[in-house]
Amino acid sequence: MTSAAPGLDPESHQREALERIAAAPNEGSLEELRVEFLGRKAALSEALSRLGSLPPDQRREKGATLNRVKAALQQGLDVRREALRSAGGGTLAAAEAIDLTFPGRSPRRGHPHPVMRVWREMEDIFRGLGYDVARGPEVDNDYYTFEALNMPAGHPARDGFDTFFTAVDGAGTDDTTETRVLLRPHTSPMQIRYMETHQAPIRVMIPGKAYRRDNDATHVPMFHQVEGLVVDEGITVADLKGTLEYFARAMFGDRRRIRLRPDHFPFTEPSLEVHVSCMQCDGSGCVLCRHSGWIEILGAGMVHPNVLRYGGMDPERYTGFAFGCGIDRVAMLKYGIDDLRSLFENDVRMIGQF
Ligand code: PHE
Repeated sequence: MTSAAPGLDPESHQREALERIAAAPNEGSLEELRVEFLGRKAALSEALSRLGSLPPDQRREKGATLNRVKAALQQGLDVRREALRSAGGGTLAAAEAIDLTFPGRSPRRGHPHPVMRVWREMEDIFRGLGYDVARGPEVDNDYYTFEALNMPAGHPARDGFDTFFTAVDGAGTDDTTETRVLLRPHTSPMQIRYMETHQAPIRVMIPGKAYRRDNDATHVPMFHQVEGLVVDEGITVADLKGTLEYFARAMFGDRRRIRLRPDHFPFTEPSLEVHVSCMQCDGSGCVLCRHSGWIEILGAGMVHPNVLRYGGMDPERYTGFAFGCGIDRVAMLKYGIDDLRSLFENDVRMIGQF
């Protein structure tokens, strides 16, 4: 409350009144303040009404001062009323008032998906070995996917690729049609496409999506693979082994060893399964490696002479190796994820852990 009229100090009265006006939380309280400061019984009004009892010389000076205070308070009330109205029709309750000085809520920061982390890490590892990084079409045709990879029409290995065919050209339903369109079931078609457009020496890794009609804890219809291809004079299995051992160590740690087992792919000869010593038990045997101490991480082999020929390379002069590695699988092993499907359910509570 303001002090009573006789002791009214114009300056402190104005300061105090303007502070309270500026803090008025709504129009109702602003009206109460108007009555308190400018109403008939206000200290200021009483002081003005008593001017007449002052000697004339003091009256002019005091009158001017009091009127200046009155005008200032009137202006303060107008400004505050405008502010309250534009902030919400003048009905904004104190609790709802926006405090512009309050620290903001910072937006949540995301991070790359574990599959993308591993994808980029693999790119980095192979770039470090001087590889080119290339991409290729996810929709391809029968020729690049099978035929040129030494799987002619009717080859039984085609069945292993559970391919999604998107269209059959013309009326033919047999799989001899070279233009048959499909979702690539592996990244290997890029071996041919890359050889067609590049000269030896070739060192390339091709990451990307591949598709198969599979769906269980270790297979999903869309997955990620990296294709590797090296073609030059004098490339041997020793180059393949050294490269993949380097990769396994760069990805899973210096203590890793690899072992090669015979396998079969129509597009490589010989074909190999590459195993890495278990990153969880270090080879002594655990649930992850099914007590074998080893985990299969990729398929590889020496590029089949027919495949080199399809790619336009002379197999008498050049040899090469190729490999195909599942990026999702590497991510699962690296981060200890046991159900592949959980990588693709878009649940940030799951993905955010890595
Ligand atoms: N393309 C094979 C697959 O997806 C993997 C592979 C690639 C094997 C290159 C050998 C050489 O199963």
